[in-house]
Amino acid sequence: MNDPVGPLPASWLGELKALLGPGGYLDAAADRAPFETDFRALYHGDTPLVALPDSTARVAELVRWCAAHRVAIVPQGGNTSYCGGATPRPGGRELVLSLRRMHRIRALDPAGDAMTAEAGCVLAGLQEAAAAAGRLLPLSLGSEGSCTLGGVISTNAGGTAVLRYGMMRALVLGLEVVLPDGRVLDQLTALAKDNTGYDLKQLFIGAEGTLGVVTAACLRLHPRPQSTVTAFAAVPDPAAALALLARLRGAAGHALSTFELLPRVALELVLRHVPGTREPLAGVQPWYVLVEFGLHEPEAAARERVEATLAAAIAAGEISDVVLAATLAQRDALWRLREEIPFAQRREGVSLKHDIAVAVQRVPEFIAAGAAAIASLVPGARLVTYGHLGDGSLHFNVSAGAGDDGASLRAAENTVRQAVHGLVARCRGSISAEHGIGQLKVAELERYEDPVALAVMRDLKRALDPLGIMNPGKVLAS
Ligand code: MLT
Ligand code: ZN
Repeated sequence: MNDPVGPLPASWLGELKALLGPGGYLDAAADRAPFETDFRALYHGDTPLVALPDSTARVAELVRWCAAHRVAIVPQGGNTSYCGGATPRPGGRELVLSLRRMHRIRALDPAGDAMTAEAGCVLAGLQEAAAAAGRLLPLSLGSEGSCTLGGVISTNAGGTAVLRYGMMRALVLGLEVVLPDGRVLDQLTALAKDNTGYDLKQLFIGAEGTLGVVTAACLRLHPRPQSTVTAFAAVPDPAAALALLARLRGAAGHALSTFELLPRVALELVLRHVPGTREPLAGVQPWYVLVEFGLHEPEAAARERVEATLAAAIAAGEISDVVLAATLAQRDALWRLREEIPFAQRREGVSLKHDIAVAVQRVPEFIAAGAAAIASLVPGARLVTYGHLGDGSLHFNVSAGAGDDGASLRAAENTVRQAVHGLVARCRGSISAEHGIGQLKVAELERYEDPVALAVMRDLKRALDPLGIMNPGKVLAS
């Protein structure tokens, strides 16, 4: 699609409003404004109208109109993208499409472990509905109170239980998608087995709305564990954390659902900026892990089993101190120490974010090499690397030194990014483990992705969206 050249003609806006009907759009500047900026305020665009269709048929009609008029569509869920993936570009010619009026649970089948819901459903509401039916929807992440099903599918969200349950690709059984020409692709089944040709639904998961609009999905549910055991442990270093991970997986298998690593500096930021948080352990320790188990046995037996494994880890020198949550409130308090890190880091001042993954066993080597690179590029800056060690996925973030205004860190942003991503490439890792490409990493994808893979991505984009109307400029340059 060509670059935007000016606002849409008034007659087109009239047609769109008639098509969407009363309550089906927002066009006042104040109403549009929240949709025109991303969560991190990195991008500011313009949209003449936010479309709020209330059915798949209406989405299809809208997309057909947009295809006929070569008008771009930017699907937006809860608008918490870290990469500007759901923000329109400047120029006022791209419609934002929000499915927030499509929030019905169409079917819930506890016995079949499946739930079919519309893309505008908020994740927390879906978790609650599954729980009320005695089932578990395991996707859990910081923005669950606002992110939508369409958003978490389009970004292949992961969260903190990937170790046990996988990312969205593993949780989607079927999809309904409006294609860029307005046809509806109906793959909304709950089949565990289906080898009839290509698995088309996987194309749209993680595509960031560039290949079509996800309007509904059938989700895989799981049995709810009978007991949950949560522990916060101090570990001497990332290598010890890795040894602990192997031990816990060996002892607990799939019952281990969370294994998160955080350094002392991250805990200190949380304790400083998040009211009500407290030191979980005595003394100062260099690294910590938050681990959680979901077991299918009574509470007392589950705790006993976990305690025995942790005792063996202490004896082996993998853990120097540990606390187990005894109540739900204590569990929440331990989780806050991990989940509030992004907030605390924002409050601390200027920081650079990298969302990387390498093979799990290479994490310690990666952290050591990355730390050395950052120390030489920006002396005094603080490495705040934390995240999902169990998945080999880290937020390799850097904060300015305490009391520093962050000017030198900002000035070094490109150099630091190149050093970190260069290291990732040497480890054959990922420069976007969780947060996607959006607008932020389009050039990085071109730089680091295998040329053959990039060419196939472009072929797919051209085949499905030859007019380039679906979320242009995201993932691939348009
Ligand atoms: C997290 O793991 O906390 C999220 O991916 C958010 C972040 O890193 O900022
Ligand atoms: Zn994360």
